[in-house]
Amino acid sequence: MPEPMSPLDRLVVALDVPTAREALDLAQRLSGRVGMLKVGLELFCAEGPALVRELQTHAPVFLDLKFHDIPTTVKRALEAVLVLNPRLVNVHAQGGPAMLEAASAAVRAHRERGGTTELLAVTVLTSLDRVALGRLGSTADPADMALHLSKLAKKCGADGVVCSAQEARAIREGCGEHFRLLTPGIRPQGVSVQDQARVLTPAQALREGATWLVVGRPITQAPDPVAAAEAILLEMAGQ
Ligand code: C5P
Repeated sequence: MPEPMSPLDRLVVALDVPTAREALDLAQRLSGRVGMLKVGLELFCAEGPALVRELQTHAPVFLDLKFHDIPTTVKRALEAVLVLNPRLVNVHAQGGPAMLEAASAAVRAHRERGGTTELLAVTVLTSLDRVALGRLGSTADPADMALHLSKLAKKCGADGVVCSAQEARAIREGCGEHFRLLTPGIRPQGVSVQDQARVLTPAQALREGATWLVVGRPITQAPDPVAAAEAILLEMAGQ
């Protein structure tokens, strides 16, 4: 059995804000109410590693930089950010087996030195539907491709994947109970879906087998982000 995790451990808030000041303000307010802070490309490119170190005084950080390059470049880029010991890092599974193995080797070596980072692979971006994949020259169904890439990522040493909550059940069945599934596109009941197309509620995502839930705007743009996070934690606890 995987280790038990509390709703708090499972809740990841996406800090999709452009400045360190806004990110730190949210991190401070949400301290003790979320399990992890997600720093994406926008914030990392603007503010860099110094901000990550400051955020880590409030909660562990998921560095969502989605590396995709040749194996050596990805390995070296990972080694550069692993100095920060983020809780999670990620790469694109579509970088291929050699790249995934190089990324896994970098994370494994970091853990052998006492680090605690885990590696996730992004399967198929949810912005790519069947039509878009077709235009890229693929006849695959996005959900089938996500499952295929999840199995590949697991074989190449990744700890888990980023996937749509709607694909979580099939990936959980295909990759086993210990494989980590991080799912964005989460909307509590009664909250605007905004630009997300296929959303699940926190309770549904947990039932589908998600390990971590990424929630952004329903918390960060709520009139009271702390109350919004607490409501989500309650929903998760009661599922
Ligand atoms: O605000 P919202 O809850 O939609 O934010 C979701 C976060 O998850 C954003 O940082 C977004 O970039 C990210 N994400 C996503 N869908 C994916 C992968 C990542 O929404 N397939």
